[in-house]
Amino acid sequence: MCGIVGYIGHRDAYPIVLKGLQRLEYRGYDSAGIALYDGQELNLCKTKGKVADLKAKFEEGTSTKGNIGIGHTRWATHGVPNDVNSHPHYSNSENLVIIHNGIIENYSSLKKELVKRGYTFQSDTDTEVLINLIEDVMVKEDVKLGKAVQIALNQTIGAYAITVFDKRKPNELIVARLGSPLAIGIGEDEFFIASDASPFIEFTSNVIYLEDGEMAVIRRNKGIKVRKIQDDSLVDPYVQELKMNLEQIEKGGYDHFMLKEIYEQPNAIKDTYRGRMLVDKGIIKMSGVDDNIERLANAKRIIIVACGTSWHAGLVAEYIFEDLARIPVEVEYASEFRYRNPVIYENDVVIAISQSGETADTMAAIKLAKEKGAFVFGVCNVVGSSISRETHAGAYTHAGPEIGVASTKAFTTQITVLTMMALKLAKYKGAISDSQFRFHLQELERIPAKITRVLETSNDHIKEIADKYKNTPNCLYLGRGFNFPVALEGALKLKEISYIHAEGYPAAEMKHGPIALIDEQMPVVVIATKKGHYDKVVSNIQEIKSRKGKIIGIVTEGDEEVRNLADYVIEIPETIESLTPLLTTIPLQLLSYHIAVMLGRNVDQPRNLAKSVTVE
Ligand code: AGP
Repeated sequence: MCGIVGYIGHRDAYPIVLKGLQRLEYRGYDSAGIALYDGQELNLCKTKGKVADLKAKFEEGTSTKGNIGIGHTRWATHGVPNDVNSHPHYSNSENLVIIHNGIIENYSSLKKELVKRGYTFQSDTDTEVLINLIEDVMVKEDVKLGKAVQIALNQTIGAYAITVFDKRKPNELIVARLGSPLAIGIGEDEFFIASDASPFIEFTSNVIYLEDGEMAVIRRNKGIKVRKIQDDSLVDPYVQELKMNLEQIEKGGYDHFMLKEIYEQPNAIKDTYRGRMLVDKGIIKMSGVDDNIERLANAKRIIIVACGTSWHAGLVAEYIFEDLARIPVEVEYASEFRYRNPVIYENDVVIAISQSGETADTMAAIKLAKEKGAFVFGVCNVVGSSISRETHAGAYTHAGPEIGVASTKAFTTQITVLTMMALKLAKYKGAISDSQFRFHLQELERIPAKITRVLETSNDHIKEIADKYKNTPNCLYLGRGFNFPVALEGALKLKEISYIHAEGYPAAEMKHGPIALIDEQMPVVVIATKKGHYDKVVSNIQEIKSRKGKIIGIVTEGDEEVRNLADYVIEIPETIESLTPLLTTIPLQLLSYHIAVMLGRNVDQPRNLAKSVTVE
């Protein structure tokens, strides 16, 4: 997820674009750049680091003149964060310049073709490929920029929100979007472009949100023409009047980043498997796994090291790897693993999971494992983070920046990456048949829509439950099998943002002591989906009910048995057992969120917590 900003009009572009990038830094902040056109020249400056670093570097030696400009703040998905991979990107001729938010999945095949035609590349990015494809079309077809963009985009597969400028035609900007957001602010003979409206909210409240598959040619003094990328047909755009304030816009209209990120999960999971899981072909492509498949598939043991929510994702992965790939898995708190002189063999594989890629304990565990000869594979959300650079190989989640301290979309995208990895190894080892493999792919592809269904149908009901139990001093979370780790994760969410004491337990473990805690004051969240020892969980519920415990059941749609036993039920759609954590965690995220809001907590920055624990 990156932030793009553009301006064309009568004002100085630089201050508008720079401030716009500052407002979009929540979308990505590992590098930034701006290109300005001063009437003669294109002046471009870009750098690794934050917008503040760009400002310092730009104002050191680049002209800030001009009333056309584009800018970009990056969240890397291809190519590590460095100056050369930062946007904007020139075409080979340096007549064209582009900024891009998204992923061009077929960039490597396009790049090979362009290299054959003599194009050279400075960066590792998919974006530089796109701008040279556009240039190549302009030259070969002898068409203007707008037409070239339309033709080129029809040759791409992936997601994009782009702004393109040709210094030979300095009175126009071309924008296009598919899968990534793009807003156009309409001023008095001036236009603003951005990933959301926050960069131009003080200049105009008239905005066009381009629809997927649309592009626009924006001309100074001539206005804007919107077209469909596919067939170049004209579109009559809907100009709406913004009612949101700046803070609301940065949060996408949500009250908190955490809620926004809960609702981003369908897209975050799609972005994570996009270009990797090819359902029609029945294949999963993950270069970090493919390049090391022998080492990974022949592991005698997988040791997973992580902290917090990432540790819970590791516990889910334990069930998935052992169930599908039949490889023994141990899951360790990184902070314990690093100090207890663990036994590590050379044919061990260690998987380190970390959203931030900067957690000190996890980094230390990785170093220890490497010293003892293990192969270390990283699952991170931040490209170029310390952990992603320390591991021998890895796979990124493409969740985009996770701003809320309480981890949500990182958890579900970590499980997505680990599920794809387990499926690849299971298929390679012949532990599952091709049809089982394909069935899992098809079901994983249905998960985003099923999460959307939970979000759309359960939120109000969950608010009611939150209101009922918001003042409880304690809460228990129970789950079995694949959903035992989800019970732990649900308890952690409630603890860290509402400050209510909560514990997660394997459902069967209740009778070994914790059941003494049950009374009419104790709410118990029980994950009781149809898959996974359902009857056993129902008997656990009966044990709780007989002691007057209050039961909130997370059940499969249509369940009547638990509904008749519980005080409340929250339904989730049916799916295969190993994928239920991706659905059962959603109501638990919302429950903790609404309770915390009702208690007036600082949801995005809870007391005592930091987003990344880089200290020991
Ligand atoms: C989860 O909601 C917490 N914010 C915390 O437990 C977090 O998961 C843990 O600190 C690990 O962080 P990492 O994934 O960035 O390594």
